[in-house]
Amino acid sequence: MPPVAENDLFIKTTSGGRAGVRSDFPIFARTFAGRPLIYLDSGASSQKPQVVIDALADHLAKHNANVHRGVYALAQEADAAYDGARKRVAAFVGGAPQTTIFTKNATEAINLVAYSWGRANVNADDAVLITQMEHHANLVPWQMLCRERGAQLRYLEVDERGELSLEQLDSELARGDVRLVAFAHVSNVLGTINPVAEMTARARAAGVVTLVDGAQAVPQLPVDVGALGADFYAWTGHKALGPTGIGVLHGRAELLERMQPFLTGGDMIASVDFQETTWNELPYKFEAGTPPIAEAVGLGAAVDYLSGLGMERVRAHERELTAYMLERLAAVAGVRVVGPPQADRRGGLASFTVEGIHPHDVAELVARAGVCIRAGHHCAQPLMRCLGVGATARASVGVYNERADIDALVDALLSGRAVFGL
Ligand SMILES: Cc1ncc(COP(=O)(O)O)c(C=O)c1O
Repeated sequence: MPPVAENDLFIKTTSGGRAGVRSDFPIFARTFAGRPLIYLDSGASSQKPQVVIDALADHLAKHNANVHRGVYALAQEADAAYDGARKRVAAFVGGAPQTTIFTKNATEAINLVAYSWGRANVNADDAVLITQMEHHANLVPWQMLCRERGAQLRYLEVDERGELSLEQLDSELARGDVRLVAFAHVSNVLGTINPVAEMTARARAAGVVTLVDGAQAVPQLPVDVGALGADFYAWTGHKALGPTGIGVLHGRAELLERMQPFLTGGDMIASVDFQETTWNELPYKFEAGTPPIAEAVGLGAAVDYLSGLGMERVRAHERELTAYMLERLAAVAGVRVVGPPQADRRGGLASFTVEGIHPHDVAELVARAGVCIRAGHHCAQPLMRCLGVGATARASVGVYNERADIDALVDALLSGRAVFGL
């Protein structure tokens, strides 16, 4: 077996032991049936560093009050904590606070655009263009919109390497009826890193609005929403070391200004009369009701932590682990990995099938060795049909993983094959 290599995020301590980011995550002190936790499911949700847990607890213990309503000192602390978190979250991805909207998750961020922008701008005989690799969160809202408006929903195809074709994008845009192109920055099944800037530039040149689903990208790549050029960019806190219950939508100011609100009620208004209401300024116009205050504070701590590591280093670490995972999985008989063959073109995950063993059994077999992976359709049923499978197993890495985790997965797969007599 290859030796466990040092990598940038794991440093040798003076006593010769290993320290580094994993020790920042208290969950790794846990054992399951006497085995250490080997967590390879960060694509579903990441683990949380102690600084995020502390930020949540500290906020609730010392600064808790509702926001934007109180004149007393405690309420002002809560305001400062919430709006301060927004500034840090926006800066983390090169966005502006005014156009950075907190939502419940990426799903809600995409639904916000499908309702508020889509229902005012997509009409009968228009088309919405998405891709075959979309998570249901970036597919079902467009299906609903198109059905309601009598518009067409069309798909960019995924080729045998798990990639999209810019030529097909061009020919779709040339048809003249596309109003919006929505696609993942990083596929949660194939791992493909899509050429976002090229795609948004082509759409913009054709006068077409773009939405990018960055749920899998923000946790592992340096992201600059300005440079990527999307009109809307959505992501989710819990995959980026933050708490559940918070997502983010970055939008182009001109579009957000023109859009009607998504949800209505308290906080998102400027004034309400018996028959008429006017809307609050951005971003509050899109944040109806009491927002996820403690969650925003937790996400602020998460992005500070990631910035401290440096997103270039995070990407290098996950790229290196992915390359290692692809190499080791390729050597296991019967394993077929889907998506781009090169680690450079993919995020930190590998979805695979094992000939003769159902993906759910694969996940179950490796779980017996304490290895946590995911099996199923990964909320991408249409993509599964394109791949000709009902499900895959998926191992996904985070900042706290190391090569030994991949070795444990591969050892468990080899033992699993033996259990099945393969
Ligand atoms: C690519 C992608 N988009 C969207 C989502 C939805 O994220 P959330 O459930 O936090 O809204 C996920 C979650 O798995 C995802 O992987």
